[in-house]
Amino acid sequence: MSKIAPLIYVVDDDASVREALSSLIRSVGWRVETFASAQEFLARPQADAPSCLVLDVQLPGLSGLDLQQELAKADIQIPIKQGIARNQRAPKQSEELGAHKFGDIVGKSAALRNVLNQVEVVAPTDSTVLLLGETGTGKEIIARAILNVSSRSNRPYVKLNCAAIPSGLLESELFGHEKGAFTGAVLQKIGRFELANGGTLFLDEVGDIPLELQPKLLRVLQEQEFERLGSTRTVRVDVRLIAATNRDLAQMVAEKQFREDLYFRLNVFPIRIPPLRERAGDIPLLVRYYVDKYSQRMNKGIDVIPEETMAALCRYAWPGNIRELQNLIERAVIMTPGNVLQIQGSDLQESSRTLSSTAGTLEDVERQRILQALREAGAVIGGPHGAAVRLGLKRTTLLSKMQKLGIELRCARTSAGLWYDRCVRVCNGRV
Ligand SMILES: Nc1ncnc2c1ncn2[C@@H]1O[C@H](COP(=O)(O)OP(=O)(O)OP(=O)(O)O)[C@@H](O)[C@H]1O
Ligand SMILES: [Mg+2]
Repeated sequence: MSKIAPLIYVVDDDASVREALSSLIRSVGWRVETFASAQEFLARPQADAPSCLVLDVQLPGLSGLDLQQELAKADIQIPIKQGIARNQRAPKQSEELGAHKFGDIVGKSAALRNVLNQVEVVAPTDSTVLLLGETGTGKEIIARAILNVSSRSNRPYVKLNCAAIPSGLLESELFGHEKGAFTGAVLQKIGRFELANGGTLFLDEVGDIPLELQPKLLRVLQEQEFERLGSTRTVRVDVRLIAATNRDLAQMVAEKQFREDLYFRLNVFPIRIPPLRERAGDIPLLVRYYVDKYSQRMNKGIDVIPEETMAALCRYAWPGNIRELQNLIERAVIMTPGNVLQIQGSDLQESSRTLSSTAGTLEDVERQRILQALREAGAVIGGPHGAAVRLGLKRTTLLSKMQKLGIELRCARTSAGLWYDRCVRVCNGRV
């Protein structure tokens, strides 16, 4: 006869906390029931006895402490886990800018608070977290926030961007190798999993891990063990994984570009970081924050942001998200001579043009913006004046976006056999 899974009751007035706790509890195979208030909890049909009650303290009406007294009076004994993030939760009435304890994370939109609530719920556990979001939305900054709240905050924190390492070298980067394991392996190398032992590993762009390496990653996530290349000795580690990607892993699974079993193992606790256009309320805060930051850094006293400038910035779609905003403000601060922020005419025109054309799909907006940047950069992608920097994107991210949107950059050869002429062929247009 199969054992019945433990039942956990969660009482919390914050829907995002209820949602986050539920998915965490379900992910370990337990059952969960949630209640938005103490009254709702008391009115429940008393079917199953719960194994544990997770109780928020500050509840509207009857508080968590009142509820405990009620239960004690009625001689109902349930183990209680009080306010899981009681001392850590972002204040419900958040103040300006530093709206929460995640100091360098600016914003107080409901969408961002929802993300931070999930961070607080999952951070103290050792569960794998999968951060999903477009480029520049803040996946890395959120990974660090998880680390800071976790019990591993003082332990090693090791990062690896899977897209930045040539695929042939990724295996030895992750798992290490013995001397002589392959041609060129002149010294023994300790891999990132071993370096992160006892701490946290942040695997960025996890969607770029080649298929043939995925079973080995799955094994280390499940068993916490692996062998260095060229060795038969099994190494055991204790590593908490935070993974991030801007790719649609479910779609990649459907297209057989990503293993389904690894996807399920990574997807234990996914946190979707919304793009900036879905939390436009944060734009003024971010603009002020970055104007102050760069203004101070460059010793400029910029303290006025004209209303129409702010309005235009708020209307813009920000395909490169916060990184694009950050870069645009840095440029503006450099170019501003006095104390009134001046945004480059071309930047703003581009912003409003992009906005007025948002009648098209988001893809159209992205395509237009990328083509424009490529034109401005003379079809150069990388480097300090390249299109990637103009868009606030990493070179690799821009390349993968271009590939997705069907924008192709070609290097043609002249008849002299030397190269030159860059021409950009676009699926439906020309640069
Ligand atoms: N809420 C925020 N407040 C202030 N700065 C932010 C916020 N979110 C992101 N940033 C800043 O925006 C930039 C981009 O963030 P980050 O590198 O975390 O994004 P990402 O999602 O990892 O991007 P990519 O997919 O391109 O790697 C960083 O400089 C980061 O400090
Ligand atoms: Mg990143």
